[in-house]
Amino acid sequence: MNRPTKSTKPTCLLLLCSLVAPLETHANVVDDLLKEWQSEAATPFNAAAGEAVWYRDVDGRSCPSCHTDSLFVEGRHERTGKVIAPMAPSVNPERLTERKKINKWFKRNCKWTFGRECSAQEKGDILTWLRDQ
Ligand code: HEC
Repeated sequence: MNRPTKSTKPTCLLLLCSLVAPLETHANVVDDLLKEWQSEAATPFNAAAGEAVWYRDVDGRSCPSCHTDSLFVEGRHERTGKVIAPMAPSVNPERLTERKKINKWFKRNCKWTFGRECSAQEKGDILTWLRDQ
């Protein structure tokens, strides 16, 4: 019995859809946040500026304190020792997919690291850099 190409077609299409759909949604989460923050920021978001904020040291604390110097490996919470999954979306597809999670951790981690919330400019710069890692 020969297998007609006809019957494989819908499967391929379905597969394609299930691959493409979540990617689009994730991109939209980041795009939407960037758009909102950009309206509150003075200059266009810049990845190099975001990277600089990420590595900025304030009284011995920085984002890598817990996320490590590499976005591509597991981190560890400086205080609790809890393992933190890699930050780079290229190795951890769950990253930057949930609006609520992004907002919650930006708020909490900026306070822990810099003793204050990050500005829309800082958050936008960081996210612009982070999303392409
Ligand atoms: C005290 C430890 C700690 C520090 C310092 C820290 N983080 Fe985090 N971060 C965490 C933990 C814990 C999570 C949540 C667990 C997870 O997502 O794996 C997290 C998650 C995040 C997320 C959520 C990502 C996603 O999955 O959507 C973002 C964004 C983030 N951190 C940004 C930052 C930034 C920016 C800094 C520096 C200003 C920073 N973090 C510093 C511990 C830390």
